[in-house]
Amino acid sequence: MVRHRKVGHVQLKHGNNNETSSSSNNSESSFASRTFKVLSIWKTLVGFVCFLIAVYVGTLGYLETRVNTPFDNEKVVQETGLDVPQRYWGSYRPGVYFGMKSREPKSPVFGLMWYDLAAVSHKGIRHWCDQNDNLPSYGWLRHDGISFGEQSISDPPHTIVTSFVKTTGGAHGGHWTARINITAQNNANSHFMLIWYGALDESLGPESSRLWVEGGALMGHTPQLDHFRVTLVPQKGKIIHSAYSEAHAPGLHVLKEKFYSLLKVQKHPGFGRVAVVGPDEELDGKDKEVNFVPIQLLVETPFVLDVVYTTEDLPTPPLQGHDYQKALDEKKKMFDDKFENTFKLLEKGYPEEDVSIAKAAFSNMLGGVGYFYGAGRVQSQYTREPVPYWRAPLYTAVPSRSFFPRGFLWDEGFHGLLIGRWSVDIQMDIIAHWLDLINVEGWIPREQILGTEALARVPKEFVVQSNSAANPPMLLIQLAGMIRRNPELFAPDTTHRRTLERMYNRLKAWYNWFQTTQKGEEPTSYRWRGRDDDELQLNPKTLTSGLDDYPRASHPSDIERHVDLRCWMYAAADSLSLIATTIGKDPDKFDAVRAELSDEDLLNELHWSPHTRTYADYGLHTDGARLVKVNPKHPNESPKMVRVVTSPPQPRLVTSAFGYVSLFPMLLKVLKPKSENLGKILEDLDKPGLLWSPYGLRSLSKSSPLYMKRNTEHDPPYWRGQVWANVNYLALSALKHYASSLGPHSARAAELHSRLRANFVRNILSEYKRTGYLWEQYSGEDGKGSGCRPFTGWTGLVTLIMAEDY
Ligand SMILES: *[C@@H]1O[C@H](CO)[C@@H](O)[C@H](O)[C@H]1NC(C)=O
Repeated sequence: MVRHRKVGHVQLKHGNNNETSSSSNNSESSFASRTFKVLSIWKTLVGFVCFLIAVYVGTLGYLETRVNTPFDNEKVVQETGLDVPQRYWGSYRPGVYFGMKSREPKSPVFGLMWYDLAAVSHKGIRHWCDQNDNLPSYGWLRHDGISFGEQSISDPPHTIVTSFVKTTGGAHGGHWTARINITAQNNANSHFMLIWYGALDESLGPESSRLWVEGGALMGHTPQLDHFRVTLVPQKGKIIHSAYSEAHAPGLHVLKEKFYSLLKVQKHPGFGRVAVVGPDEELDGKDKEVNFVPIQLLVETPFVLDVVYTTEDLPTPPLQGHDYQKALDEKKKMFDDKFENTFKLLEKGYPEEDVSIAKAAFSNMLGGVGYFYGAGRVQSQYTREPVPYWRAPLYTAVPSRSFFPRGFLWDEGFHGLLIGRWSVDIQMDIIAHWLDLINVEGWIPREQILGTEALARVPKEFVVQSNSAANPPMLLIQLAGMIRRNPELFAPDTTHRRTLERMYNRLKAWYNWFQTTQKGEEPTSYRWRGRDDDELQLNPKTLTSGLDDYPRASHPSDIERHVDLRCWMYAAADSLSLIATTIGKDPDKFDAVRAELSDEDLLNELHWSPHTRTYADYGLHTDGARLVKVNPKHPNESPKMVRVVTSPPQPRLVTSAFGYVSLFPMLLKVLKPKSENLGKILEDLDKPGLLWSPYGLRSLSKSSPLYMKRNTEHDPPYWRGQVWANVNYLALSALKHYASSLGPHSARAAELHSRLRANFVRNILSEYKRTGYLWEQYSGEDGKGSGCRPFTGWTGLVTLIMAEDY
């Protein structure tokens, strides 16, 4: 396979340009001798061959460096860190239940751990959001993305409410206060172990940052923050015992383990035996700095603690006690007002309970925005081994705080639909960070695993990102939508206009990368790269499309063409045309592509089946593929499942896979309102037993051969029938679009829109009430949430769907 081709001598980088030119001088001087002796011709030939080899090796070296060379243009993010004081501190560690850090590569991190003394042996210490903790629910209930947030965590018999409010000012990031409020069922008095810690990230090399304890407070110094102090101020309840340790942790990814190793059982007068943190023996006599300070409090509930972070240079007193409560109540009131102004859910008649769920969905997405820093690992066909990308920051939302607490490229486009409604500032900043991750080829790695904490949570096989892998350009489409909606914010001489101008060349490069690397063999066709066939998968996955195991042609080949990608490219051209026009550039090139890709005759020639009257992918395909168990050659191996075919694959449209992919010409509004084929899609949407379910649209028709089929013995179905929020959102948005466009299908589109919306919203809300979570996907059979939880990535779009605002 080309992707894994090994090439020799690729160590030489730009330095061998010298070699190239000296060889060329040699060969020129050989020519210049003008002797006709055989020897001389021979020498000339050798010289020439050496020259070619040098050019070849030089080119390989050059190609090898392309994958991790940044795009050559000014960065979009120009102000960060202390230059943006309002977003400096935040709950930017979505992967922990509660933590604070600043938007600084080497920010100290603060966070909460806890355990239930009675149950610690089987429940363990809580720290990272973890599905195996089986908490009945947790998540931000209100969060404005800037100044405050409030979260409730249920860990029976305890409820832990964590909140924070910031006080900006001064030159070093200002103060913040976090409150941790622990209650037990029936307001009982129970024992609870709470740990608040500060830690320094040293994975980025030493810096003059320090942490220590003085007078009961956690003290610290970093170049950006200057001197700071974190004081723990109990507001209510009893502290039975407290202890702290000045310790050294080998990395942010093992703080819990380090804490655990510091525990020693002691006798406590009046309490009995209790495990208490003690000195770090690994520090003794070794040349290690303190980088981890856990403070442990054994408390009796109900208990309320204020964690007060103060910076030395800000004279304003920090919030605590009653003042904190007052400030928090005001923030909550402002949040509620802005939420209603933005989404108008009460006005639409939703009961308070449902509005609270929408607030939680929205808040956990916004409160899940993180700040990551580090270098991913990438590979191209020219690199022998994966190589590090450059170190960079990423400010981004995450799909799931427990399961996917990191950035995903196409998810982020959907997150932006919701975040951009709340704050164009925040969303522009997020897009800016993503676009700064584009390389010189115009490629953006689709999964961003930056920093030791993020890396520790990713299975090894998913770490390396290949530069042939695309991912739908939803972020570009979202950006264009945001401009269309708020043209005044992008008028000449505005901040966002200048940012957009810096984005433009990068957006164009990204678009051109698609146009050159994902083209199909037929004119105006496109093909997702990266479908590997190991003959173990029932249908080789197309991870790059975002729809992972959605059935495509059974046998990946170069003749394949993907209808969803063609529609994405239509929407991308349309978006770039709008962006070019907005900043006074020539949109003609994009308009031409848009016109070509929306030409229905061309589309139909490539993707419309006159037999089934549906849109489909094209490729080498057979419906006669199945997994069978084969007995191993050696008796000590276990039998394994492999794919066999009962009829050979043939070049054809993949019409048996009727589902989300077949809908794309409607989903991305490629079809004209008068289109006959649009009428057929709408008719099919409504047919029982296909995609329609009482819970939303299924990803794959019940009538498809691969409906809810496993892809390998280890791989359960994922996009093979389940209901997904992002595509239901696109469908609703498209239905509303066609409902409001004059045409023969507008009445039907309107009617489908209202029924689909009601079904989808009803199920998400009732599953939240039943389970305490928003889920990654929902069953098309009984509506039950499945996959991971909480998934307040694109499932949070339920808020926009309730608002009927697409
Ligand atoms: C702590 O939480 C309890 C239960 O949610 C609530 O009744 C109480 O008012 C809270 N106290 C503070 C000081 O926030």
